[in-house]
Amino acid sequence: MAILDKHKILETNATLLLIFSFLVVTIGGIVQIAPLFWLENTIEKVEGMRPYTPLEMAGREIYIREGCYVCHSQMIRPMRDEVERYGHYSLAAESMYDHPFQWGSKRTGPDLARVGGRYSDDWHVDHMRDPQSVVPESVMPKYGYLERTMIDGKYIGDIMATNAIVGVPYTDEMIEAAQADFAAQADPDSDYDGLLERYGDKVNVRNFDGQPGVSEADALIAYLQMLGTLVDFSTFTPDASR
Ligand code: HEC
Repeated sequence: MAILDKHKILETNATLLLIFSFLVVTIGGIVQIAPLFWLENTIEKVEGMRPYTPLEMAGREIYIREGCYVCHSQMIRPMRDEVERYGHYSLAAESMYDHPFQWGSKRTGPDLARVGGRYSDDWHVDHMRDPQSVVPESVMPKYGYLERTMIDGKYIGDIMATNAIVGVPYTDEMIEAAQADFAAQADPDSDYDGLLERYGDKVNVRNFDGQPGVSEADALIAYLQMLGTLVDFSTFTPDASR
């Protein structure tokens, strides 16, 4: 009974109760927050993640501008129906270079986290021009103007520099070569060795929209075709010890 009596003192004295509640919340808060100051990284490291190429970054900017995230998520949850439909559940590392991340909160359309390589570039061109032409029941709007809007990527180095400030590992060399790399990725006849040296051999170099010049569609398709393809899941084993 003694302990109950003591607790009664607390419960009947508002000031004391406030002080002790504050103490409990403080200890709980420290236990939760303090370890984060000593952990070097809260994201499990994976092979293959790299910063976006300038063309993919431009595509990402268009994705955000057009509000694709309003209907599409990029976050596969570890539930059987999602994993069977979309592939391996999303890892934190896969969006570590996303500022802001594109997880989304609504799925009017399918999740796009692993849409890369699922369809041909031609399919994407047709689908953006007129979604109902390939998926008759689609409610996705038409984005045909993207293939008619040409871009030169002269702003993309600035966007990469801004991303570098918040921790994306873009080097000065990558930022300087941004506009050249931007054009090279959409032109298979160009000298794109520098691009592959900087971002790796797996970078897709193609004329994504099949038309001369670099259009917004080129950038957006380059971005979509990369999504979910960076991490090699045949070498990935989740580290449950963390
Ligand atoms: C009004 C909601 C809406 C918006 C906005 C929207 N979509 Fe969609 N999207 C859909 C729906 C519904 C589907 C499924 C039917 C289809 O394939 O058209 C879809 C399908 C897709 C697919 C095929 C995915 C798959 O796995 O089959 C891609 C790729 C895609 N959208 C890209 C985009 C991009 C890029 C944007 C922004 C430029 C965008 N969507 C904007 C609703 C939307």
